[in-house]
Amino acid sequence: MSAVFTRMFFLPALLISVYTGNPYHPTILLPEPAPDSGISVEEAIETRRSIRTFASESISLAELARLLHSAQGITSDYGFRAAPSAGATFPLSILVIAEKVDSLEAGIYAYEPSNESLTAIRMGCFLDELSEAALGQTCVRNSPLVIAIIAEYSITTSVYGNRGRTYVHMEAGHVSQNIYLQCTALGLGTVAVGAFSDNAISEILNLAENETPLYLMPVGRPVEP
Ligand SMILES: Cc1cc2nc3c(=O)[nH]c(=O)nc-3n(C[C@H](O)[C@H](O)[C@H](O)COP(=O)(O)O)c2cc1C
Repeated sequence: MSAVFTRMFFLPALLISVYTGNPYHPTILLPEPAPDSGISVEEAIETRRSIRTFASESISLAELARLLHSAQGITSDYGFRAAPSAGATFPLSILVIAEKVDSLEAGIYAYEPSNESLTAIRMGCFLDELSEAALGQTCVRNSPLVIAIIAEYSITTSVYGNRGRTYVHMEAGHVSQNIYLQCTALGLGTVAVGAFSDNAISEILNLAENETPLYLMPVGRPVEP
């Protein structure tokens, strides 16, 4: 890799990252999540809607931190998380495809719940490609960021056999609903996108052979239709 390429793509990320020893996969510690919104769970459930049109405004890193914590954050001393998991097997992981997040270089990041951090996987803008892989859906292209829910079935099937696959799908629904309700509480919008090519999304996100994308959730500030 040339020095010019390295400077262009990785130096800005390094400047805002906590260096973990791998210059190509810098780790960014997330800030304190956005504070309690004061919206009740009843109000969030009552007003939640799928939102597909977003303002061009960016999302703050504190808002993103709150969304990620609500999706898969650790909420107990035993390592249990914000969403329930069959046998506490935790087969899901969360990726963020960021294009307009304050203080975060555009790129694909893995959320690490244990220390509330993001690890860079690929730098650059991928929402055009992602939208194409999602049958051209414009809500994916025109959002500041997309949260992807990724499954590793074997983590749960190794305990529950084939039934484990169903459990993993159930669990993804819990995580997705948490993201929906947290978006509503923060005044943000999202939509659960399930119509996409598994292969195309896996390639863009650099997924391993044993990982499957289950949901894409574009997030942004809602624009009234
Ligand atoms: C499994 C699943 C897959 C979905 N896939 C898409 C999708 O690919 N694109 C989209 O715009 N909405 C998608 N949706 C959102 C639904 O269209 C939406 O929930 C439905 O129209 C009801 O609207 P509401 O969420 O505002 O109540 C999906 C929802 C679910 C549960």
